[in-house]
Amino acid sequence: MKTHKIGVIMNGVTGRMGTNQHLMRSIAAIVKEGGVKISDGEAILPVPVLVGRNEAKLAKLAEQSGIGAAYTTDLDAALADPANQVYFDAQLTQLRAPAVRKAIEAGKHIYCEKPSGTTTEEAYELYKLAKEKGVKQGVVQDKLFLPGLLKLKNLIDTGFFGEILSVRGEFGYWVFTGHDAIPVQRPSWNYRKEDGGGIIIDMLCHWRYVLDNLFGEVKSVSCLGATHIKERIDEQGKPYVCTADDAAYATFELEGGVIAHFNSSWTVRVRRDDLLTLQVDGTKGSAVAGLRGCVIQPYGATPRPVWNPDVDQTIRFYDNWMDVPTNQVFDNGFKIQWEMFLRHVVLDTPWKYDLREGAKGVQLAEAGLSSWEKRCWVDLEALPV
Ligand SMILES: NC(=O)c1ccc[n+]([C@@H]2O[C@H](COP(=O)([O-])OP(=O)(O)OC[C@H]3O[C@@H](n4cnc5c(N)ncnc54)[C@H](O)[C@@H]3O)[C@@H](O)[C@H]2O)c1
Repeated sequence: MKTHKIGVIMNGVTGRMGTNQHLMRSIAAIVKEGGVKISDGEAILPVPVLVGRNEAKLAKLAEQSGIGAAYTTDLDAALADPANQVYFDAQLTQLRAPAVRKAIEAGKHIYCEKPSGTTTEEAYELYKLAKEKGVKQGVVQDKLFLPGLLKLKNLIDTGFFGEILSVRGEFGYWVFTGHDAIPVQRPSWNYRKEDGGGIIIDMLCHWRYVLDNLFGEVKSVSCLGATHIKERIDEQGKPYVCTADDAAYATFELEGGVIAHFNSSWTVRVRRDDLLTLQVDGTKGSAVAGLRGCVIQPYGATPRPVWNPDVDQTIRFYDNWMDVPTNQVFDNGFKIQWEMFLRHVVLDTPWKYDLREGAKGVQLAEAGLSSWEKRCWVDLEALPV
């Protein structure tokens, strides 16, 4: 078996995303499978180098990974090693652009978490730099590889909906505040603007690539943000003032006429099929996709409700939907995208999730924030290729 060994610097790997999705579910899983198979006798083997500030944490994580991962607190030394061809970044958002810039200058191929920068200008600059330097470049767009969204894409491609009219996205769940001794589920920086937090910058990046890829390029946005909860408790048990938005109510106009509306909230309790649901209504049928599942209601099975508050509802609305069957095994979405990126690096296979796509996500988030501030619709300009 011929193996193409690719050193992958993984910075910010001790964080929630770095550890769970990128190291354990993606890179370690790929290594344990013997690499990304590219032919009967050939595979690409990622060789991770875990980078962070705390050596003890890195050592523990290297051990946990079960693949004997190397680790260092010296990013410059990792960048200087020619065996490390890829730089991956899942640090705090604010730290991303300076670190990615440095890695591009060191000639590394780039793969990073979203948002790829804190402003469109910063994120787009990375795209231009990487292009000038001729390195490969990618941004995580994991939601596209969720089984539920893949089922939705299949329905779109096979014409199930007829003309698509609208898309309703409901994202969110109750993130505990840390009061009443109930542990929180998200890091405290998410709720501090000065640390790069806020649900608009976090989630509108995702909604941009979901909408662009499935329903049409986003042309315009109207967004209202809110900081519903004013005080939370941090990792040290200290109260802090929430300075970032924890909910966003956003409407998008798409190329081709589809209207999308997404509610994103860390202050909502779930009474729906999943933490993210996308309802798509078309002239010939509707569908609701969650992370893994998807249900449909074709035109011919659409109930005919009549408004009458004087009698109890006779239609059980949840009963009139059919499951889209799971006809294939779906791998972890982050892992699928990593495998695609590694193939792109070694074999130059087609790849569309570059830093320009990442910058488009930041652009929508920035436009959302601007719309909220100015209380008006904001149009999006195409970013040059
Ligand atoms: N694709 C997705 O679905 C998704 C989901 C959540 C978060 N993210 C993105 O991933 C990135 C990391 O988010 P997370 O939830 O893993 O955060 P986290 O707080 O759990 O991890 C942050 C990482 O940055 C490191 N770091 C480096 N310098 C730091 C400093 N000065 N202060 C604090 N931490 C520092 C931490 O050690 C840690 O490894 C963010 O940019 C976020 O937007 C993506």
